[in-house]
Amino acid sequence: MTKEKLTELINDMSLEEKICQLLQVAGNFYDKESLVTGGLDYFKVTDREKELAGSILSISGAEKLKKLQDELMEKQPHHIPQVFMLDIINGYETIYTVPLGQGASFNPELSEKLARMAAKEGAAAGIHVTFSPMADLCRDSRWGRVMESTGEDSYLNGLMAAAMVKGYQGDDIKKKGNLAACVKHFAGYGGAEGGRDYDNVELSERTLRNEYLTAYKEAIDAGVKLVMTSFNTLNQVPSTGNKWLMRDILRDEMGFDGVLISDYGALKEMIAHNIAKDEEQAAELAINAGVDMDMMSLCYVHGLKALVESGKVSEKLIDEAVERILVLKNELGLFENPYKDASVEDEERLLLCEEHRNLVREAAVESFILLENEDNILPFNKDDSQTIAFMGPYADEKRVYGSWVFPKSEEGIVSVKDGVERFKTNNKTVFCKGSQLLSYNRTFKDGTEVKYNPSLKEKLLNEAVEIAKKTDKVVLCLGEHPHFTGEAASRVSLSIPDEQMDLLRAVSKVNKNIVTLVFAGRPIELLEVKNLSKAVMFVWFPGTETGNAITDVLWGETDPKGRVPMSFPYTAAQMPCYYNRFVTGRPNDGTLNQHFVNGYIDQIDKMLYPFGYGKSYTEFEYGTVKLSGGVNGDGKQLSKEKTVIASTTVKNTGTVVGTETVQLYVSDLYGSVVRPRIQLKGFEKITLNPGETKTVSFEVSEEMFRFYNINMEYVSEPGDCRVYIGSDSDTNNYAEFEIV
Ligand code: BGC
Repeated sequence: MTKEKLTELINDMSLEEKICQLLQVAGNFYDKESLVTGGLDYFKVTDREKELAGSILSISGAEKLKKLQDELMEKQPHHIPQVFMLDIINGYETIYTVPLGQGASFNPELSEKLARMAAKEGAAAGIHVTFSPMADLCRDSRWGRVMESTGEDSYLNGLMAAAMVKGYQGDDIKKKGNLAACVKHFAGYGGAEGGRDYDNVELSERTLRNEYLTAYKEAIDAGVKLVMTSFNTLNQVPSTGNKWLMRDILRDEMGFDGVLISDYGALKEMIAHNIAKDEEQAAELAINAGVDMDMMSLCYVHGLKALVESGKVSEKLIDEAVERILVLKNELGLFENPYKDASVEDEERLLLCEEHRNLVREAAVESFILLENEDNILPFNKDDSQTIAFMGPYADEKRVYGSWVFPKSEEGIVSVKDGVERFKTNNKTVFCKGSQLLSYNRTFKDGTEVKYNPSLKEKLLNEAVEIAKKTDKVVLCLGEHPHFTGEAASRVSLSIPDEQMDLLRAVSKVNKNIVTLVFAGRPIELLEVKNLSKAVMFVWFPGTETGNAITDVLWGETDPKGRVPMSFPYTAAQMPCYYNRFVTGRPNDGTLNQHFVNGYIDQIDKMLYPFGYGKSYTEFEYGTVKLSGGVNGDGKQLSKEKTVIASTTVKNTGTVVGTETVQLYVSDLYGSVVRPRIQLKGFEKITLNPGETKTVSFEVSEEMFRFYNINMEYVSEPGDCRVYIGSDSDTNNYAEFEIV
């Protein structure tokens, strides 16, 4: 449709029609079988509003959506097509590792491919928009939603968010197999106080700009079509009604001109926030802030008409919002082809196809972080005749995909047991459950019930111990309940449930050759697990190909390639924690024997596993950091025009091939405001044969040192600085130079 026709259409629409275009309704109001991702009871939508609504969320399936599109377009006075949106977070039907696992892969190109794959499947199922990526910076793993982020580093998050946007959207959202992406949750949702979901966020404007806004900006620069507001207040103003944040920062500064959608019910929540006295005032705040679409509240529908009639809100604002929504529909090609790519044949062809399975298997391997590997217990040797026992609640479990995907059936999922049984090896393998996931009854938000059976505990434990006595090695598959992570799943404790730890404790008394695989959506406390196991591998929730990917790695078909994307603390009480903390006036030296220094008296101020950390099946040796280039060619001075080249050698000193993630950090030694200790600015994944050495070089630019200074100018400041190249954020391998 041409721009003129679009304007004509808007001019022809009644105020009621226009206001309803701004409404998004959950699919459950059209089809009781569709997903539920938030509350429904408070939402009393009339039949007319349902017919006129501009968008529907959380319903999918080619056949279903084609039919619904026909029915609703027929009823709309101007036959405007629906835009169907869904949370496609880590896959539609072929499921890949959760976003934090993707952060661990340090592989944006792979995330782009995964998003591409998910878009194809989602588009075939009739979806037009995915509510992804989530670019929220997270520094507190008590927050359940860290699983949906790519971690604690703004640089890595920015690369990942941009890659996902490109993957979903391709070069034109109209083309077959592409979806429009929605970056969320603007802004600062990951900063929730105490890690409590939906809690308030207090951030200085400098930290907000330096750290929290950058990844959303990368998504915007990558052309993301939608932005979602966040639930939280930011410095006491709910984002959904924050005109400064949405109009001045998002639209004017960042140049976003797509659709701004509220999060689920967030307009109405401004009443609970004590910012709006009623729906009408909430609508006024949101429309003034520039929110185009009201997801699952009826504030616009109930409030905007009166606001226009009383002159408090100009109809022009509503027209602008309608226009942005219709432009999105037009860019998706829905006026010409309202079904877009919905196709039952394509669903059959694409969902869980071999190509997609292979990709998610690769993604799983890239995300697994080998945290410990004493005596090189891993990889196993498939030619020996040892017996290996697999036990724990995740040894034969198909719910290994996190809390944001909703597979139609779990049949296609390869559990650890399925994978091991398919793998050809001379080893003898045995399986037993060993423990239940939790030690209490629990009903989760989607109605899933966990029934704990106390009388089973001893039986399962005894069986496991007897098996462990007779086997050479034990692989314990432990972790968090899948519903203990995700939205509304914040935790005070970051431990593996005691029920499972009791299994590890008991088995470790009779067998010392323990490999523990940890299934979880957040960094958790692993000190005891480390002490009782020889190897520990963090596998997240790897998705459809879980068992095959785990088998690939356990038997050394490939090495695990993940690196820590969010610091693993010794204890939850260290939260929030992140590698790029500010230096204090009383720095500590990482031990306990100091007085009057920053930190704790009963816990060293270190991480158990720092950001960037991860082992391989081989060892790597780094050379010193060498500098060249810059103003005089000797690497001693960096200017805006003259970049410095920092390089080092990396050698595989072991006996097997291995992949290393070589990381570049920068540090500004003096600034007009306190600067982070170090900051990630680059990385390269390299694969080296035994004995092979490679030189890895990074171009270091002045831009890498820019920040909002004392005068809130985004600049670098002249002076001494460092560049580090190493295998994690604890590296001390650096060279110094000067910014001039
Ligand atoms: C979440 C969003 C999600 C939306 C729609 C909300 O509760 O915060 O991330 O996209 O629901 O399901």
